[in-house]
Amino acid sequence: MIKKRRTPFFLWIGFVTAALVASALAQPPAKDAPAKKPPPPPRLPTSGAAIDASRVEGHALCMDCHRSEVAAWQASKHAGSVFDLLRGKGAEEYAEKMGIRPTDIASSSMCVNCHATPRIDVAGRHRTIAGVSCESCHNPAGGEHGWLNAHAVYGPKGTLRGQETDEHFKNRTERCQKAGQIRSIDIYAMAKRCYECHLIGDEKLVNDAKHRLSDQGFDVLKDMLGDVRHNFHLDQKQNALVATLWTNQRGAKDRTDKGRQRSAYVVGQLVAAETILRNAAKAKDPEGDYAIELGELLLTASDNVADWEFAEDATEALEDLGGQLADGELDPDDTSELIEAADKLAAAAKKIAEGDGSELSDVELPKIADEQLQKAYQPK
Ligand code: HEC
Ligand code: HEC
Ligand code: HEC
Ligand code: HEC
Repeated sequence: MIKKRRTPFFLWIGFVTAALVASALAQPPAKDAPAKKPPPPPRLPTSGAAIDASRVEGHALCMDCHRSEVAAWQASKHAGSVFDLLRGKGAEEYAEKMGIRPTDIASSSMCVNCHATPRIDVAGRHRTIAGVSCESCHNPAGGEHGWLNAHAVYGPKGTLRGQETDEHFKNRTERCQKAGQIRSIDIYAMAKRCYECHLIGDEKLVNDAKHRLSDQGFDVLKDMLGDVRHNFHLDQKQNALVATLWTNQRGAKDRTDKGRQRSAYVVGQLVAAETILRNAAKAKDPEGDYAIELGELLLTASDNVADWEFAEDATEALEDLGGQLADGELDPDDTSELIEAADKLAAAAKKIAEGDGSELSDVELPKIADEQLQKAYQPK
């Protein structure tokens, strides 16, 4: 890698002197200057899953109807004691480099978008939820037009699931989608959400703070079937009234579990590459760890999808682009190729997500999937 050129010392002295003179000239005598202004409010965090914190309801509200989902979530790493992590020494070091005050780390910082669930109450106070909770993945449920009140109503009072009309179903699901609900059927939106957190989207966090870019082993398929899995409905009394929505919903007659696994795997891989490209297009330093590591990840992603003829058009540019990034050749002033390749991947992934997975029967699933399924949490 090429070393950055250093600024000669005498130039620094020149800069500093110029800056001092300029600031002395710019500042009028402080006599009748107003009292010192309070510091500006912290920059609104936009990294990670940047959800609308004022619409977050919290998992206690889901408990009545989704007991098993809550139990599965509580047993997962996402519900871990994240505040211990964010109060640790490592966290403070990252935060310092990002200009975040230690007292803000666990309330109003960008860290909360990924390590917890940001929530703001009506009085504007931070009521952060420990852990990546339901609405981090499914999007906030509350607010005037939120999906909470609509998502489980099948018609006029007393209407059971089997009695819902086609029209009502259509309106209900469209309304929930419009309100932002990420539903289990929408594998594309869900995979995108995973990578908003599992692949850092902020160059500074990696280059300056040295936060890890990604967990190399992360994979939507194995992780959705493992630590995150909660689409079982073994005990109908304890769950929402449905069996797994993917296989048991209107228009779902050809869907199978295997089809689901294939779709999740393929869509996950394509979305991983898409996210890498979009993040690289935002990067400014071609020689920083961030851009270089994204390039290396893209090369791996490109290998993973190399045999998929059905996605050839969308994946053919990945090896070249990965090589360029890994060699420090990102051009921050012209990212059109990166964006174009990302758009193609998105279109291919969305199309596959809308199918039932049967068109992917040639795709070989990694063995890990079955093993994960065995290890997955089972409701007692
Ligand atoms: C009054 C009971 C009730 C409450 C409270 C409730 N849900 Fe649901 N939820 C249901 C039912 C019933 C379904 C199944 C809907 C169907 O048949 O399409 C469901 C489905 C879902 C789905 C899957 C939607 C899909 O189409 O894939 C998600 C996600 C979900 N709920 C999340 C939540 C979250 C998060 C909360 C708490 C903020 C919550 N629910 C609160 C009853 C409820
Ligand atoms: C875009 C999402 C994202 C953001 C923003 C983020 N993190 Fe992380 N962080 C993660 C993920 C995902 C992991 C787990 C990585 C793994 O398992 O490889 C992690 C791991 C950690 C760890 C434990 C492991 C380690 O490598 O030290 C600490 C501590 C940490 N983050 C602190 C912070 C702090 C403090 C901030 C804010 C300055 C922050 N993170 C911002 C996603 C994020
Ligand atoms: C809001 C941010 C966020 C979202 C969204 C998110 N994760 Fe995570 N995830 C994290 C963080 C942070 C950790 C590390 C937790 C810890 O160890 O403290 C983690 C940990 C995990 C782990 C455990 C890893 C281990 O060390 O064993 C798995 C598996 C996982 N996530 C899968 C997923 C999947 C699959 C999705 C999408 C369906 C997803 N995550 C969505 C932030 C997120
Ligand atoms: C890390 C991301 C993540 C978190 C956190 C999360 N979910 Fe999910 N949820 C998913 C994914 C992915 C699916 C798709 C179904 C599957 O394959 O497991 C899903 C599916 C569902 C479904 C539909 C199940 C079905 O049969 O299709 C419900 C209901 C649900 N989630 C409720 C919840 C509730 C309630 C919480 C909080 C206690 C929660 N989820 C937390 C990612 C998440």
